[in-house]
Amino acid sequence: MPRTQFISTGFHVPERIVTNDELRTWWDTSDEWIRARTGIGERHWVEPGLEAGSDLALKAAQSALERADLKATDLDCIVFATLSPDYFFPGGGVFLQRKLGVPGIPALDIRNQCSGFLYGLSVADAWVRSGQYKRVLLIGAEVHSTGMDFSPGGRDLSVLFGDGAGAVILGPGDDGRGVLSVHLHADGVGAEQLWCESESSARMPRISYDDLDAGRHFARMNGREVFRNAVVRMPEVVREGLAANDLTAEDIDLFIPHQANLRISEAVQKQLGLRDDQVYNNIERFGNTTAATLPIAMDEVARSGRLKEGDLLVLSAFGSGWTWGSAIIRW
Ligand code: COA
Repeated sequence: MPRTQFISTGFHVPERIVTNDELRTWWDTSDEWIRARTGIGERHWVEPGLEAGSDLALKAAQSALERADLKATDLDCIVFATLSPDYFFPGGGVFLQRKLGVPGIPALDIRNQCSGFLYGLSVADAWVRSGQYKRVLLIGAEVHSTGMDFSPGGRDLSVLFGDGAGAVILGPGDDGRGVLSVHLHADGVGAEQLWCESESSARMPRISYDDLDAGRHFARMNGREVFRNAVVRMPEVVREGLAANDLTAEDIDLFIPHQANLRISEAVQKQLGLRDDQVYNNIERFGNTTAATLPIAMDEVARSGRLKEGDLLVLSAFGSGWTWGSAIIRW
């Protein structure tokens, strides 16, 4: 049976760089506080009204297509992971499809927040291995900056997030390389610990003046609970993936954790007993781009040569839902 291989990768972030010092324009915060608690130095923000998530996704996709010497018309389907779609509905997939100019091919939207890329990878992997689709474009794209709470109460969450998009093109191969496994989990007990309550089809009207006054249209987070769960679930699901493939942490050439917070990544690294040279972090430059962190990092390591053919690559993510997962990949 063929395995799902990574034909190509690409990413795109908006031009505008927002430093920790610039955040002091809106919030009582400091570069020292943000760096010490999160490892973030800067992030990219879109120009509101000029760039949507599907625009970032388009540029990431074009970069991946160019790298693979493929045209958009070579794609068989799109899988689009985001928690910040351009609109409540339809999802980002159809807007990206329209911008790519490939009418007719299916576009699937994935709503699994920080684990969205891994959930998307699991579906794409099954489609490729079954022979249903040969060239799958998998995207993780987010625009957080248009949803920032600029009041004092928004500072804990708003300093963490950045905008960006990552793309991978997947297809079958039979030389043993490719996706060895994807393990996924969810536990809705944590749903309200990191969520955006409004607009909500569970209520009428879906968004009210009261919601706006109370700031329910902004994301809200219990940071300590996120932290506490992430440092348990991520090592656990990596070990699950390794065990399923008769591998150990020593076999890992490169581990890319979801870029939520450098302190989370360091705690996960420590629990897995990994050396610094086995782990890649880029949160210092991008902040948390949710579904986009893994494909952005993959493109960086693939292009820089840090990730080489035949290397064992391990991905893991944890986030809102709760949802979490890991992927074990022979690159
Ligand atoms: N700048 C300065 N001070 C801030 C701040 C900011 N941006 N945000 C919060 N603070 C203050 C708090 O008000 C609090 O002040 P107090 O002691 O006077 O009440 C103090 O800093 C400590 O806040 P606390 O929330 O206890 O900090 P923390 O050590 O838990 O760190 C996070 C906060 C958000 C950095 C941390 O909980 C975290 O990273 N959690 C995981 C979040 C995450 O990864 N989310 C994405 C999931 S995919």
